[in-house]
Amino acid sequence: MDLPQLNNVALQFKRNVADANNMIQHWKACDSAFFKHLSDRVNLEDYAEKIQLFAQRVEAWHESTLVGFLAFYANNVTDGVGYITSISVVPEFGGKRIGHQLFDLCYRELTEKSFKVIQLHVADTNAQAIGFYKRIGFVATEQVDGFYKMEMKIN
Ligand SMILES: CC(C)(COP(=O)(O)OP(=O)(O)OC[C@H]1O[C@@H](n2cnc3c(N)ncnc32)[C@H](O)[C@@H]1OP(=O)(O)O)[C@@H](O)C(=O)NCCC(=O)NCCS
Repeated sequence: MDLPQLNNVALQFKRNVADANNMIQHWKACDSAFFKHLSDRVNLEDYAEKIQLFAQRVEAWHESTLVGFLAFYANNVTDGVGYITSISVVPEFGGKRIGHQLFDLCYRELTEKSFKVIQLHVADTNAQAIGFYKRIGFVATEQVDGFYKMEMKIN
């Protein structure tokens, strides 16, 4: 895939290359609040395995380091509902629009597959991620047990 230069940092965007160790190392390198939240909720080894088996992955690599990662499910073809299960960018690379580019690749793929909507859940305390999703065009549709459910229609 393309090699955008972000402040002279060469990135490679790849699909479904990261293994479970790459994912776990990446999540651990992401900000501590997010990582604590994630590792409180799920066993990271099990989660990485589930993602490898069932999710599509879009990855931003800097050399041999996974600096950005988005995993989404495109399995509910009947209802046309895609679901983003995970998105993260390591702090040193934050704010460089890597998150936007990962999302664009996910959106493009779901559009090509004729999906109608993308959903996700985000902790209602995660102001940064909520801000990011709103900028992209997601709206919150419900708030349950400390999480917003957000969704975005695909045109
Ligand atoms: C959310 C995350 C993936 C964004 O990645 P990123 O590469 O830094 O994002 P980008 O540079 O593409 O875009 C940042 C956007 O978020 C917005 N944003 C960032 N911090 C924000 C904040 N505190 N409040 C509101 N908006 C914020 C900015 O306005 C910016 O949008 P703009 O460029 O259109 O103005 C990244 O911050 C991250 O990994 N966070 C920790 C993991 C996490 O919480 N993941 C979500 C779990 S559901």
